[in-house]
Order: sequence, then C-alpha cells, then structure tokens
Amino acid sequence: MNFTIVGPHFGTSTVCTPILRSLPEWFGIEEATLQYSSEIEHLPTFLASISEHTLGFLSLKQHNTFSAEIYVMGVQPEAQRQGMGQALLHATQSWLRQQGVEYLQVKTLGPSHADPNYARTRDFYQAMGFRPLEELLQIWNEQNPCLILIKRL
Ligand SMILES: CC(C)(COP(=O)(O)OP(=O)(O)OC[C@H]1O[C@@H](n2cnc3c(N)ncnc32)[C@H](O)[C@@H]1OP(=O)(O)O)[C@@H](O)C(=O)NCCC(=O)NCCS
Repeated sequence: MNFTIVGPHFGTSTVCTPILRSLPEWFGIEEATLQYSSEIEHLPTFLASISEHTLGFLSLKQHNTFSAEIYVMGVQPEAQRQGMGQALLHATQSWLRQQGVEYLQVKTLGPSHADPNYARTRDFYQAMGFRPLEELLQIWNEQNPCLILIKRL
C-alpha cells in the first residue's frame, strides 16, 4: 500500500476523530472519544494518508526531556495490517530520537481483561519492540486494568 507519513502537526482533531469513530471496539464511549478529540487538537500528531485522505494517526505527549508517550493511535479498519501503524511509529521514533528522547511508553488495556481486540493491540506493540512494564488497577479502575508498555528509543 502506498501511503505518506507527515508530521508532527498540531490542530489535527478534525481528521483524527473520524478514525476514532471508525474503531468502536476500541473507542466506543462517546465521552472518551470527545476527550481524545479535544486533547489531540493540541498534541503533536503524525498522519498517514493516501491522496489527501487520512487513514491513520499517532498523537504524542512528551512528559519530560527523557520520555514521551503514545497518547493515542489508530488506523482505519480497512487499512489495518498493511504497515501503516509501523510506519507511523517509525516516523515518531526518529523524530523523538532527534530530540534526545530516550524512552517511549504507551498505556493500554492489560492482559487480565479478556477483551480480544486489545489483545491484538498488545500484539502490535510487542511486535514493535515495546515490553510490558506493569499492569496497574489504580490508573483507570479495577474493571479497566492499565498496562504500561515501554520501549528504549
Ligand atoms: C494497533 C494498530 C494501530 C496497528 O496498526 P496497523 O497498521 O494495523 O499495524 P501494522 O500493519 O503496521 O502491523 C505491524 C506488525 O504489528 C503486528 N500486528 C499488527 N496488528 C496485529 C494483530 N491484529 N494481531 C497480531 N499482530 C499484529 C504484526 O507483527 C504486524 O506485522 P505483520 O503484519 O507483518 O505480521 C491498528 O491495528 C489499530 O488502529 N487498532 C485499533 C486501535 C488501537 O488498538 N489503537 C492503539 C491503542 S491507543
């Protein structure tokens, strides 16, 4: 698949929100989607597009000089498993490395929750070199165990 990766850009919620809405198995709670949408607007975001049509994105939070976090990422269902997520991540990693950032983390639903969709999400991050650090019940809540994954850049 031929796509282009651009970024980081700001003010991208208009193009990223439809991607969140195309993924209801992950982002099905309207209140949470609106929260993502409003935060994405102010975060550095990489976009994956085919002829002006954005099909994937990755938004970042930089916590300090040494570490950053994938705040949220998504690829439209019909474009998944064709290398877009990996390309978004590679662009993000090289941009962070250029600035001397050493660690990249991501928080996702942990393995003690049975959701099969988030199991695939964890498979993606693991294939991309992330390693599970710790599952915590205090970050979200007991029904939504939060797994912190980390990668050395
Ligand atoms: C997770 C996500 C961003 C990955 O993007 P993608 O473009 O589908 O991933 P890629 O095609 O770049 O996959 C790269 C590698 O990751 C692994 N991988 C990706 N999806 C996988 C899956 N469903 N099951 C197992 N491994 C998977 C594979 O090793 C894959 O390489 P391969 O296809 O050569 O075997 C995308 O599937 C998605 O949007 N998921 C729903 C939302 C989500 O989970 N967001 C992250 C939480 S914030």
